Amino acid sequence: MSAPADERIESVLQETRMFPPPADFAAQANISSEEQYQAMCQKAKDDPAGFWGEMAENLDWFKTWDTVLEGDMPETKWFSGGQINASYNCLDRHLKTWRKNKAAIIWEGEPGDTRTLTYQELHREVCKFANVLKKLGVETGDRVTLYMPMIPELAIAMLACARIGATHSIIFGGFSADAIADRNNDAQSKVVITADGGWRRGKEIALKQNVDTSLEKSSSVEKVVVVNRVGCDVEMVPDRDYWWHELMDDVSADCPATPLDSEHPLFILYTSGSTGKPKGVMHSTGGYMLGAMLTTNWVFDLKEEDTYWCTADIGWITGHSYIVYGPLANGTTTLMYEGAPNWPDEGRFWEIVEKYQVNIFYTAPTAIRAFIKWGDEFPNRYDLSSLRLLGTVGEPINPEAWMWYHKVIGREKCPIVDTWWQTETGGIMLSPLPGITSTTPGSCTRPLPGVVPDIVNETGESQPENSGGLLVMTQPWPHMLRTLYGDHDRFIETYFSKIDGCYFAGDGARRDDNGYYWVMGRVDDVLNVSGHRLSTMEIESALVSHPEVAEAAVVGFPHDLKGEGICCFVTLKSGNGSDELLKELTQHVRGQIGAIATPDQIRFAAAVPKTRSGKIMRRLLRDIAAGRESAGDTTTLEDRSVLEKLMAKEDSE
Ligand code: PRX
Repeated sequence: MSAPADERIESVLQETRMFPPPADFAAQANISSEEQYQAMCQKAKDDPAGFWGEMAENLDWFKTWDTVLEGDMPETKWFSGGQINASYNCLDRHLKTWRKNKAAIIWEGEPGDTRTLTYQELHREVCKFANVLKKLGVETGDRVTLYMPMIPELAIAMLACARIGATHSIIFGGFSADAIADRNNDAQSKVVITADGGWRRGKEIALKQNVDTSLEKSSSVEKVVVVNRVGCDVEMVPDRDYWWHELMDDVSADCPATPLDSEHPLFILYTSGSTGKPKGVMHSTGGYMLGAMLTTNWVFDLKEEDTYWCTADIGWITGHSYIVYGPLANGTTTLMYEGAPNWPDEGRFWEIVEKYQVNIFYTAPTAIRAFIKWGDEFPNRYDLSSLRLLGTVGEPINPEAWMWYHKVIGREKCPIVDTWWQTETGGIMLSPLPGITSTTPGSCTRPLPGVVPDIVNETGESQPENSGGLLVMTQPWPHMLRTLYGDHDRFIETYFSKIDGCYFAGDGARRDDNGYYWVMGRVDDVLNVSGHRLSTMEIESALVSHPEVAEAAVVGFPHDLKGEGICCFVTLKSGNGSDELLKELTQHVRGQIGAIATPDQIRFAAAVPKTRSGKIMRRLLRDIAAGRESAGDTTTLEDRSVLEKLMAKEDSE
């Protein structure tokens, strides 16, 4: 993202507005003084094992660990010798308290149906489904795929897997059958949990059908469990496919949580990297749970009586950590909504905020930009006075969007936490602490206690204030990924080979004279489309798999709503391309990856610009896609006429 990142540096350098925490918020905050924050950071620095060990006492362990931290990055083990269960920490431990009858999940379906599960009810459902999994032959250590809509059964299935030590792999419902097959094959999943379909903007989105197609290509899967959500027709294969409600009718609600080693893999979550093949980011149980629990408490300043709503889909890491594991480990009431923000109209989110008196609201900049476009009349129609804290995640937030969020949604009284983190980091790493940190639009401010970032150049030298560089972590943290499933070499290569001794995040950033971090975006070939990661190479290989395509180059370009749009330059084997082929290629990419990878632009080109060594010059293509004059160096270009032709085409369009 070189060019857009440069522009962002320019724009954020001009940002000087500061918003101190409102006094009444600061007075009641969980972390309420700068001294407390500094003391926590200092302790974590001087004695990491002492710091994290003390923090880990906030979880319930079946057996206490022998050592807090063993080894150094990349090979770290946290809480070795300790035994723990994530499901126990999210459920059972609350049943011994008054929270037994507190709402754990408040759920609203897109059509308006609702369901509330108390901690006790959720526990019962989870125990039953854990017994269902056992009955289907799932054992500790097996992988189970979840391809589901945002319904309570998704959280139930996750916690049931965790309860018996099966590693879940959740695939976002927007992925295609091919993407499911690839992930199932990589993880060697034994069971798939899905639904007949889900609701999206009043339409049924078929899910079971995609699973059926995927199973033609993935042989490890033995059983499929189907939730009856929308009531559409599905084909049930005897001895392979089972209805959730039928299985649940016939099992006991007694299923004690299995004590698991702290390092036991809790889940795999696939994310895009800079090569075509998605990476199976693997998280542990003890360390991940500690990060999820603490960061939810610190950053969202949770109070017992809060109604907390994170609008992400559980198919992404944000939903894992901040709808399910983090909030439930804290005994919070977490709200879950199934559908689109603009159904039946653009006021749906605000209607939900008013209806459930939501106190904490966590969403993505891409959603905020859509709200701005839809107009203030929608939020203005509802009573949003219950809100006390707002959050964002997924991409750098543009200052205009930040200010709108602050004024129109937060009524200038709610702190905004701009949280930087990644699938790999498991939990929030850089973020304001809402009771103490003055915020400034576009900056995710400072590291949380125990997180030790730096900005370095290509050779690993720490950079001075206000110089851009690569964002790295110089010390391990408990909730970091442990490996890429089945490819430990790629894990080391991707995150630990670029900068010696550090975890390399893949983002460019700078630190200002306040010590605040400003994340500018990816420095590799990864796009951030609506806060979701997509690899340019993954889209290129999808295009090239079409019989008429000879070569493809994919780049991002600035997009008002999505942050980054997808622009594909396509060279055909013969002919000039037609509108029909354009539609066909768009469908082809959707079929290969899913709707989230739908190209915004496909441009047919006679050739793409390459260096003499044959590397596609993406920088030039990015300029063309963004409609910018190319200022970059073109001296290494192999054939100048290719660029001239592309630019001439641009002018004539
Ligand atoms: O580029 C950063 C951007 O999203 C990437 C991580 O993507 P993913 O693993 O899909 O997780 C998204 C949700 C945690 C990062 O490498 N990113 C995420 N949050 C921010 C951000 N960029 C700037 N500011 C943020 N707050």
